Amino acid sequence: MRPSALPIEEALHHIDEAKQGEVYMAENPVPEDSGKRFYMESYGCQMNFSDSEIVASILKDHGYHATDDHQTADLIFINTCAIRDNAEQRVRNRLQNLQAVKKSKPGALIGVLGCMAERLKSKFLEEEKMVDIVVGPDAYKTIPALINEAETGQKAVNVMLSLEETYADINPVRLGGNGVTAFISIMRGCDNMCSFCVVPYTRGRERSRDPESIVAEARDLVDKGYKEVTLLGQNVDSYLWFGGGPKKAFKNLTVAEQESSVNFAQLLAMVADISPELRVRFSTSHPKDITDEVLHTMKAFDNICNYIHLPVQSGSSRILEKMNRTYDRSWYKMKIDTIRQIIPDCGISTDIITGFCSETPADHKETLTMMEYVKYDMAYMFVYSERPGTPAAKKYTDDIPETVKKERLMEIVRLQNQHAEERNRQDIGKVQKVLIERVSSKSDQDLCGRNDQNKMVVFPREQYQPGSYVNVLVESCTSATLIGKVVI
Ligand code: SAH
Ligand code: SF4
Ligand code: F3S
Repeated sequence: MRPSALPIEEALHHIDEAKQGEVYMAENPVPEDSGKRFYMESYGCQMNFSDSEIVASILKDHGYHATDDHQTADLIFINTCAIRDNAEQRVRNRLQNLQAVKKSKPGALIGVLGCMAERLKSKFLEEEKMVDIVVGPDAYKTIPALINEAETGQKAVNVMLSLEETYADINPVRLGGNGVTAFISIMRGCDNMCSFCVVPYTRGRERSRDPESIVAEARDLVDKGYKEVTLLGQNVDSYLWFGGGPKKAFKNLTVAEQESSVNFAQLLAMVADISPELRVRFSTSHPKDITDEVLHTMKAFDNICNYIHLPVQSGSSRILEKMNRTYDRSWYKMKIDTIRQIIPDCGISTDIITGFCSETPADHKETLTMMEYVKYDMAYMFVYSERPGTPAAKKYTDDIPETVKKERLMEIVRLQNQHAEERNRQDIGKVQKVLIERVSSKSDQDLCGRNDQNKMVVFPREQYQPGSYVNVLVESCTSATLIGKVVI
């Protein structure tokens, strides 16, 4: 996924009621007003945030209003992440805190959505008495029925995974956004089975969404004034539409299916064709699946941003094999070379896991030398967290002591900071096209937005407004931000 400014599981957002109201009222028939209010918090990756927008749409269609005050809400939904143990711990703590609300407002319901709900299923109701509703990522359309069940004191659980559901028919309510950039889910699930990862179990089989519905959603965003869309999937490069249902390889399609199929490069072009004013981004790319066709499509369209999030996970071929990433060190380096050859100024970021089972100092060194080779613009760096039920948990011992994992992580973080600053310094003196997203969080006298390579650029506000493109001369930088001023 395209990373947010915080490590993924730290990102948390609340609903901007006013904005949702506007968006909602413009595009949906006025539902019967139940007078009830829902409050929603999201944890995890952008797909989860995107799912919360689908859930908000379903709730609004059933007469619920959004509120950003959990104290007065009739329904509190926590959209959860299960990717690492600390992500789950954060949710448990939050649920504990919310018990006070339940006490002070009898009848208020608490629902757990998302990946942790899928992982723990009805255990959530048994162990954590504080929860009334449990809904997995493919069952959101049943939420209104589940609310009814919970209201009559029944157990309300639906964690059925689906081979087909893509929510293509639901127009998401944009939550807490800036009105400039939005996410569009293009596929769900993951078939990759990286040995450390819980996602295939929490999100089910990979399936692609109808491209017409994706284009329609993007066009609708453009009509509403949005200027950037990010196409989301766990592995966008394996997107393949052939009429719906679980993923199939292109070679296994019938001739008729092949002829009418749409792959990721073609989808990118379809979305980029909507308007030259619309920026198109995507996330996440898997090194084994990103094709030259995608890279050439990026090159061919000025409005497809030159930025790729290409998680490496480890620089050691031995560890990559144990992780079941299905590429090795030299394959990954070859992909980096190809990207730089086709799109020389492409921004590249990554995810790194340190301290995976049996990782030796030599394996760790190979991660550091891989980082030196690529000099990532940005990276998300994690210590390995064993997830119950995953192949790694079953086959390997989580044998690297926490202290060693942390030391290795610190070394990786230090090196990454150096690289990011080095990369940012290369932009000083250059003029960058920036899409203004919002007022800077550090000063209301400054605006900020991203350049083509996804770097955050901060500059004096003057008369400029979010949603417009400006040319910014970069004058200085930190490891996280470019700083400059608008030039004509
Ligand atoms: N589909 C994306 C990743 C989604 S999860 C991809 O394949 O790249 C986001 C990141 O979380 C992963 O890239 C990985 O770096 C990290 N992650 C996943 N499982 C983890 C675990 N068990 N422990 C630590 N980090 C993990
Ligand atoms: Fe997890 Fe691998 Fe799928 Fe990414 S590609 S979601 S890391 S199994
Ligand atoms: Fe995303 Fe966390 Fe689920 S990273 S897919 S919300 S486990």
